[in-house]
Amino acid sequence: MFFRQNEKFPDQKSEHGVRHIAFIMDGNGRWAKKRGMPREFGHREGAKAFQRVVEYCGDIGIEYVTVYAFSTENWKRPENEVKAIMQLFTEYMSEAFRVFAEKGLRIRFIGDRSRFDADLLCEMNRLEQDSKDNKKVLNVAFNYGGREDILHAVKVLASEGKDFTEENLTVALYTEQCPEPDLIVRTGGEMRISNFLLWQSAYAELYFTDTLWPDMQEKDVDAAVAEFARRNRRFGGV
Ligand code: IPE
Ligand code: IPE
Ligand code: MG
Repeated sequence: MFFRQNEKFPDQKSEHGVRHIAFIMDGNGRWAKKRGMPREFGHREGAKAFQRVVEYCGDIGIEYVTVYAFSTENWKRPENEVKAIMQLFTEYMSEAFRVFAEKGLRIRFIGDRSRFDADLLCEMNRLEQDSKDNKKVLNVAFNYGGREDILHAVKVLASEGKDFTEENLTVALYTEQCPEPDLIVRTGGEMRISNFLLWQSAYAELYFTDTLWPDMQEKDVDAAVAEFARRNRRFGGV
């Protein structure tokens, strides 16, 4: 529905008005279960949907995409599932994330890095460094929790002796200078935030769909963005 930016209107600002979109990529496990497969299989298929969706968001002129890939609470899952997700994430350092970086996305990892091993940390830093001059941004929320984000930011301000103002706290968050999300899309049918971008989502439009994440297609992104275009954002005004 939305023109792929490079096709017809290369310089036109996207007509839908979404500058920053964020996805709670939920429903991988149920997708696999429906097929009699282990949950890990759903995560692999979900990773393909991630590539499809991120690429399409870029095509329709969205400048910032944030994906919720692993929460600070997801460590509670069975060990083999956590292991499979970590494995997939590690593979993506040299695959999908690397490809996106080469295609012009700035990759940023948001979340608590203290639980990652030195090799993985090194790869994460390298990807961020190599892609830092790209304009479009992909924030990958991995071991991310909104509460941890806020607490971490408060500690940063305290250690730097800065005032506790909204402006200072905003830039001390993992998302730093990134504009707040305009639209948060959650797949998988649950209507909750599950500790995602708590501070940053204050005035985000929320969109929930029953579509399970691995089934997410370009047309589903269109539907969310079209719904956003119909919303009346007031930010507390009239
Ligand atoms: C989302 O899918 C991916 C992660 C949280 C890592 P789920 O694994 O939560 O899938 P469901 O909700 O159990 O179907
Ligand atoms: C939210 O999904 C986290 C991610 C998508 C990474 P969960 O499946 O963990 O959320 P709950 O447990 O249903 O709230
Ligand atoms: Mg879930």
